[in-house]
Amino acid sequence: MIKLAPSILSADFARLLEDVKKVEKAGCEYLHIDVMDGHFVPNITLGPGIVKSLRKDVNMVFDAHLMIENPDNYIKEFADAGCDIIVVHQEACTHLHRTIQNIKSHGIKAGVALNPATPIETIKYVLQDVDMVLLMSVNPGFGGQSYIPVVTEKIKELKALIDEMNLDIDIEVDGGVKPSNIAEVVNAGANVIVAGSAIFNAGNIDEAVKSLRENASK
Ligand code: DX5
Ligand code: ZN
Repeated sequence: MIKLAPSILSADFARLLEDVKKVEKAGCEYLHIDVMDGHFVPNITLGPGIVKSLRKDVNMVFDAHLMIENPDNYIKEFADAGCDIIVVHQEACTHLHRTIQNIKSHGIKAGVALNPATPIETIKYVLQDVDMVLLMSVNPGFGGQSYIPVVTEKIKELKALIDEMNLDIDIEVDGGVKPSNIAEVVNAGANVIVAGSAIFNAGNIDEAVKSLRENASK
């Protein structure tokens, strides 16, 4: 069973709760919260205050994707705001093992993200410590970009490594996933699927979610 994680980057920030309630009602399991600082990526989004406000009214799993430098400085705040999973970028962490332990010390799940150009090998020695690996299938910073095809091979490589190491880790894929390519991503081994523009920019959110699920099992 896959889990759908709508990315709030494509929601209407002036109507954020309204938009989030729509994806919750449509049965999406995770809420993918894209946090950008204007340094690690060339865009700025939101901080823990907004997460805290949403938490009061939303029961989905809060999946925070921190695209920020020095994530250690903000992990406590995001955990206290109600995140269930915090994902940090390998490229932003000099002491990745320590950062993962920092996330877990708050009693929540830890994930690590890789940009499209970063090899799987760079996280081999922390795989046993994480609950989820996020593979970026676009260069982070913006919604609505096209899926980078070579990432399909990368998903397969990660899945094979996880199986070889006998681990139970979720594989999340983020960027450019649509009804037309979701099967490719799922068949390669991903089980948590981020979709921003494919859900929030669709005229009918229920239909968009249904279409993603139907196409995922093809
Ligand atoms: C990109 C973000 C993604 C993005 C996905 O930096 O991490 O979560 O919003 O949006 P789509 O699905 O439109 O590519
Ligand atoms: Zn993301």
